[in-house]
Formats: sequence, C-alpha cells, structure tokens
Amino acid sequence: MSASLPDHVRITEVGPRDGLQNERRPVPTEAKVAFVRGLVAAGLEDIEVSSFVRPDVIPQLADATEVFRALGPSPEGVAFSALVPNQKGMERALEVGVDKVGFFTAATDTFNGKNINCTVDESFDRFAPVVAMRDGTDVILRGYVSVAVWCPYEGRVEPAAVADVTKRLLDMGCDEVSVGDTIGAATPADIGRLLEALLPIIDLDRLVLHLHDTRGMAVASALEGLKAGVRRFDASAGGLGGCPFAPGSAGNLATEDLVFLLDGLGIGHGADLGKLKAASAAMIEHVDHDLVSRVFNAPDLP
Ligand code: HMG
Ligand code: MG
Repeated sequence: MSASLPDHVRITEVGPRDGLQNERRPVPTEAKVAFVRGLVAAGLEDIEVSSFVRPDVIPQLADATEVFRALGPSPEGVAFSALVPNQKGMERALEVGVDKVGFFTAATDTFNGKNINCTVDESFDRFAPVVAMRDGTDVILRGYVSVAVWCPYEGRVEPAAVADVTKRLLDMGCDEVSVGDTIGAATPADIGRLLEALLPIIDLDRLVLHLHDTRGMAVASALEGLKAGVRRFDASAGGLGGCPFAPGSAGNLATEDLVFLLDGLGIGHGADLGKLKAASAAMIEHVDHDLVSRVFNAPDLP
C-alpha cells in the first residue's frame, strides 16, 4: 500500500492517562498537573489528561476530577480529554468541562470482559447514553478499538473484526476512532494489513493509530502508517506506561521517538523536542524508574 506522506501529523499525547494508569507508584496530583502544563508548553495540542473510570479499578487516576479542576479550562487551541467507559464516567467528565471524551471498547469479547466487564455488543449499549449526553455540546467524541492486532486472550485478531467495530463507532457518532495495538505485538506488516481493511471505511482525518512499544516495533509501525497516509497518532511522553515490575509490559510509542521520526521525514507536528524532554524528565522522580524512550535518552545532536 502506498500513499504520499502527510505534510503534518496531529499527535494526541496520552502519557498522563495511558502512561500513568500503569505506574505502580501513586503520582501526586500536583505532579500530574505540572506534567500536563509541561506538555502544553511543549506545543502538544491534544492531551489525554485522565480517566473517569472506577477509581477502585484504576486507583492511579482516581484524582481525575482534581487534576481537571487544578488545570482549569484548556488554553486556546488545546484540547484536554479523558476516557469514559459509561454514563457515570460521562457525567463526571462533563462536570469538569472536558473538551473531548474517549469511549473505549475492543475487537474481542474476552478482552472487553476483563477490561470493562461487558461484551462488545454490551459496550455499545453503554455507549448510547454517552452519545446522547454529548449531543448538543461541543465535546469531541473519540472511540477506541483495543486489541486491534493481537488479543492477549484470543490471539490474532482479524482486520475485518476491527473494521466492523470501527464502523459501529463511526455510525454511533464518533468524530475520530483510535485503533490500538494494546499489547504492542504488531509488526509493520500487521499494520499494513489492518490499514487495508480500515482505509475504505474511515477518513484519514478521523483515524488515529495507537501503538504500544512492547516489542520495539512502534516506530516501524508508525512509519508504515505514515506511508499509507495516516496523519494522526497517539504517543506518550518518555514512553511512559511500561512497568519495570511486569516483564513484557511497555508504554506507548514514545512522543520523543515519534517527533524525531517526523522531523527526519520533514513532517510538521508542532512539538518542541527540548521542551517535551523537559516535561518527561520532570516525571522521573515521581514514577521512580528510567524512561524508555530512545530519543529521550540519547544525547542532543550538535
Ligand atoms: P462495572 O463494575 O461493570 O460497573 O464496571 P457497574 O455499572 O456495574 O457499577 C459498579 C459500581 O461502579 C457502581 O458503584 C457504580 O456507580 C461504579 P456502587 O453502586 O456499587 O457503589 N461506577 C463508577 N464509578 C466511577 N466512575 C465510573 C463508574 N462506573 C461505574 N465511570 C467499568 C465497569 C467499565 C466502569 C469498570 O470495569 C472500569 O472502570 N474499568 C476501567 C478499565 C480501564 O480504565 N482500563 C484501562 C483503560 S483502556 C486502555 O488502556 C486501552 C487504550 O489505551 C487503547 C489501547 O491501548 O488499545 C484506551
Ligand atoms: Mg493504550
């Protein structure tokens, strides 16, 4: 599959949510707020700040309301978003004035059962009231399709199954759909096959690739996406999300690594690598482990 490379890529920074949800050590609310502010200062315009999920299930993000309240309204040109799994989550998100919500489901029933305690079909029943609450507001609605390449319980996932869930999310009213290699098991070949199934049914402006870097394939997979014309990616500062105590787990495609790749290809993105590294560096003392991003750890070029 070939298309021309995009001129500009929109990055959704998911470190404060996808990154911090996996950290063992509780990160203080003020540090999360400072992290988001640092990411804004680095030029990131779309930032997933937290999750309005069950606080006993994801205690790391139980302070979502406090984080949003401390941040206040997003600066001009910046969107602050949060995950919502159901109506209750949407109520909590609207209370703090989020710009965007991400409703998450998956390509397999088994993963959904473990993650959100329902099947794929049941998740759409939960989604209906969320959509109804969004209508009439200017809140942007994102849908997520997890385990889009490999499911840790059901194995390899057929691209057609991912396309089916993506289409259902679009039909329900999603403005964008983020398709996730949740366990970081995709190779570029898998991403190519997935995109062949997705591109006929979703505009490139609405499609987001959400790559995890567990097996070191995320940059290569992002390049595969770029070559197919993909212009939106999720990424996490420093590659946050890997848990040093859980062998095999890893964070998202690191924002620094994506930015370095885009710079090399002459593709615009609006982020300042130096300021981004500073935002990531400030998190090290709070997560209490090294960051995994290769570009973060490499010396600055002369
Ligand atoms: P459930 O237990 O089925 O929900 O949880 P329920 O409706 O039966 O309610 C049970 C209790 O939870 C009730 O309280 C509700 O009020 C409360 P009680 O009456 O017993 O006192 N409750 C809530 N409280 C606060 N906020 C809420 C909420 N909802 C119910 N929103 C649920 C279902 C989905 C809520 C739960 O399983 C959950 O919170 N799961 C979170 C899973 C999660 O956050 N996973 C990580 C994010 S997904 C991800 O990382 C993948 C992604 O990055 C993409 C990729 O990589 O592929 C996005
Ligand atoms: Mg993820």
